[in-house]
Amino acid sequence: MKNLLIKKITEKKAVVGIVGVGYVGESLGRAIAEAGFTTHGFEADEARIRLLKDSLPVNFTLHCDKKLLNNCDIVCVCVPTPLTKENLPNTSILEAAVDEVRQQLKKGQLIIIESSVAPGTTRNIILPILNKGGLRVGCDFFLAFSPERVDPGNSNYSVRNIPKVVGGIEDNSQRLGVVFYGSVVEKVVPVESCEAAELTKVLENVFRLINISLINEIADYARALNINIWEVINAAASKPFGFLAHYPGPGAGGYCIPVLPIYLLDSAKKNNISLPLVELATLSNRKQPEKIANMALTIMNGKLHKSTNGNGIKPQALLVGISYKENLGDTRESVALKIWNKLEEGGVEVHYHDPYVLRLNGFTSSDLNEEFLKKMDMIIVTTPHRNISYETLIASKKPLLDTRGVLNNYTGANIYHI
Ligand SMILES: NC(=O)c1ccc[n+]([C@@H]2O[C@H](COP(=O)([O-])OP(=O)(O)OC[C@H]3O[C@@H](n4cnc5c(N)ncnc54)[C@H](O)[C@@H]3O)[C@@H](O)[C@H]2O)c1
Repeated sequence: MKNLLIKKITEKKAVVGIVGVGYVGESLGRAIAEAGFTTHGFEADEARIRLLKDSLPVNFTLHCDKKLLNNCDIVCVCVPTPLTKENLPNTSILEAAVDEVRQQLKKGQLIIIESSVAPGTTRNIILPILNKGGLRVGCDFFLAFSPERVDPGNSNYSVRNIPKVVGGIEDNSQRLGVVFYGSVVEKVVPVESCEAAELTKVLENVFRLINISLINEIADYARALNINIWEVINAAASKPFGFLAHYPGPGAGGYCIPVLPIYLLDSAKKNNISLPLVELATLSNRKQPEKIANMALTIMNGKLHKSTNGNGIKPQALLVGISYKENLGDTRESVALKIWNKLEEGGVEVHYHDPYVLRLNGFTSSDLNEEFLKKMDMIIVTTPHRNISYETLIASKKPLLDTRGVLNNYTGANIYHI
């Protein structure tokens, strides 16, 4: 079985299925198709299929129906692994997708989990689902974990040139995963187990979260002592070793950095392991949007009473950038939305401008024209998109809170830096 699949991969005759053609599935599927494999994408959202289908390489086709999974030699699962409302790991979408894969599982198939999960998920949650079909892992079918490490909006790194970490449930699975990804990406980093591959991804995200939380804390200290934190970071970064610059901001958002540490903490709790540093970083990141909202409310203070007094008009605030990351339209776990909520709780009417998110939850991105800006009591730069006219914001002379360092070169009584 294993040698047959290796032969098919080497000859580019293996057929590949991608389950979940969202951001990750699309990028991965394109790279696999461009490497010469016939690739089928299986996507539950028909609107997404309509949106993508004409833009993909000819050997990358999309399907809603999963029947063709049975034709695939390799299946990569790229579905979401979000949090529940209670802020706990939610692997139900992944489990449901794997169960669909199990229904079409055939001898000789290699299944690769790409969704970000806590260590142990592939072995303890995924494998038992696949085992229900009665096939044996390591001889009848193979199972590996390879974390997705794409960085949305990063034009220097794509699936092809980001090294792919691969761990298997057992040696044959690992070997097959390594051979497959070796024929798609420039470099493969084999690790000795699925757990090691899962923890690699978790470590990368926790590392970022802790450093972001640390720099936000040091920024608070620097602000209180009237020290320019941006100058300090640049000075520290002049050290050629041992320091990696992170910058202050409104907190880390998106699907990975704030989410995976919570998967880790849940797993640690179940194993009676205490991870106080990770816990603190998670807490600190959760509080950061509130801190920013309070800074804005303090700046607006006075106006809050003045304008609500008598005529009932609420103070008006403009959030500039509401996606979780610059130059993208993805609002998942965006801290700008958390700042929005906190401002509303503080009695403020919130507007937003985001060239990448023209509509959201019944709101529309406002134009940055003079007449509109005149009505604002406060402007907060939350996501530093490239194509925003910051000069127009400055020219409005409105109180302007820059949470991302885009106005570092500007000073003025109305400009506030974090
Ligand atoms: N977006 C990123 O930057 C990024 C980076 C690294 C890792 N990840 C991880 O990769 C995984 C996927 O993330 P994403 O950003 O691509 O999510 P996404 O929401 O953009 O895409 C997931 C897609 O899966 C589809 N889907 C869900 N269940 C399905 C099913 N049963 N069958 C077929 N399709 C199904 C959804 O309709 C959606 O289009 C997550 O675990 C995430 O944490 C994401």
